Amino acid sequence: MTIYQGSVTTIVASSAEMAQLILQKHDADMSGRIIPDAITTLEHPSHSMAWLHAGEEWRLIRRVLATFLTNTHKLDSLCELRHGVMVQMVQHVKKYCILGEQRVEIAKLAFTTALNQMSNTCFSTNVDEYNYQDTGGFKNSVANIMETAMIFNVADYFPLLKAFDPQRLRPMANAAYGCLEGLCDKYIYQRLQHRENKSPRHGDLLDSLIDFSEENESDFTLKHIQVLLVELFLAGSETSTNTTEWAMTELILHPDKMTKLRNEIAESVSQKGRIEESELLRLPYLQAVVKETMRLHLAVPFLLPHKTETNVKLKGYEIPKNTQVLVNAWAIARDLDSWENPTKDNIFLIFRLVRGRRMCPGIPLAHRVVSLMIASLVYHFEWKLPHDMNPKEHDMTERFGLTLARAVPLVAVPISL
Ligand code: HEM
Repeated sequence: MTIYQGSVTTIVASSAEMAQLILQKHDADMSGRIIPDAITTLEHPSHSMAWLHAGEEWRLIRRVLATFLTNTHKLDSLCELRHGVMVQMVQHVKKYCILGEQRVEIAKLAFTTALNQMSNTCFSTNVDEYNYQDTGGFKNSVANIMETAMIFNVADYFPLLKAFDPQRLRPMANAAYGCLEGLCDKYIYQRLQHRENKSPRHGDLLDSLIDFSEENESDFTLKHIQVLLVELFLAGSETSTNTTEWAMTELILHPDKMTKLRNEIAESVSQKGRIEESELLRLPYLQAVVKETMRLHLAVPFLLPHKTETNVKLKGYEIPKNTQVLVNAWAIARDLDSWENPTKDNIFLIFRLVRGRRMCPGIPLAHRVVSLMIASLVYHFEWKLPHDMNPKEHDMTERFGLTLARAVPLVAVPISL
């Protein structure tokens, strides 16, 4: 499908075959990005993995992330830290149970948990509290940036309007990014001070990034560190939150599946004495729940828009340079004709769709965080809808934005087990 909006031509791929051609065969020619006008006056895009042209600098940042965070060895070594954050989440929900019949908004719970697991990974500390309405903190800043990114900006499609910024989105984006950048800067400068004082190392991601920057001063600066940290909070919190919320929705609507999952987790806990991340990754039913959730509710339903870097011939179509390319993962995931064996192919679905050089570098981390959140919520609690609502009446409307959220947040009542 081709869409013409002002000066921007967009093609939308809605079949698995087309997606594979775009993300694999023509990957190099179709891996550009169009930087939204709202953020063009910021320094962020010129150091950001998500927005940089897929060249040398971008490759270095991806390598840094893979080396210091997302490779299996590193992820294994940080697993205690994720466990600690999950224990805090469970304790928080237990407080609700003691008060009786209290409702929990799952997305809020998961968002705080996702932020804290990211901040512990980066800075060895929590940055958010459950039930805390921050105004200038991480929660608020991340939410503001995501909201700004969702606004349709007419200047993106009519270049003459760029000079006027008619919706005043640039100052909005500047303020939103400025806030999150300021928070990350605070941690970076505190850490530099800490290191200057020869205080003991934390051994977290920030220490690794500063070490690397000191050894590669000209290529990887403090600005790269700030932008990478901002990007991790942006890319890693809402996606994991939405996936957890959708998984819990599906499980609450299918209590037999929730019981089956709980039994599987209980069996692994009885062998190990507690929920172990390494065990969870081996539980077939839990992994099927995570993958099926990602199939039906992939948190980034159109991936991030790509752009053609040159003229491309795609199945007989001539796609000009600078065309925006969307891959409709939402439709492909539901199109049974795309998969010879949908149940079996599902195992490979996210890897088929989220692949190519722009492939999400955070999936291995997200996979662990989401598995842990779902397992902890299902193992420790029974969940029901408020007022004994019939699951069939539950509103499943989706809200399409940069990420795919529920239109009506999931609110559920936990019962401690
Ligand atoms: C359930 C969780 C997640 C989902 C579904 C998801 C999905 C995606 C998708 C679809 C893309 C775009 C791929 C493309 O343009 O072809 C992407 C890009 C990206 N993701 Fe994720 N993601 C998740 C979690 C994370 C986490 C935890 C991190 C951070 C550690 C992360 C960091 C990024 C970055 C930096 C990019 C841009 C990569 C680039 O352009 O080179 N994501 N993600």
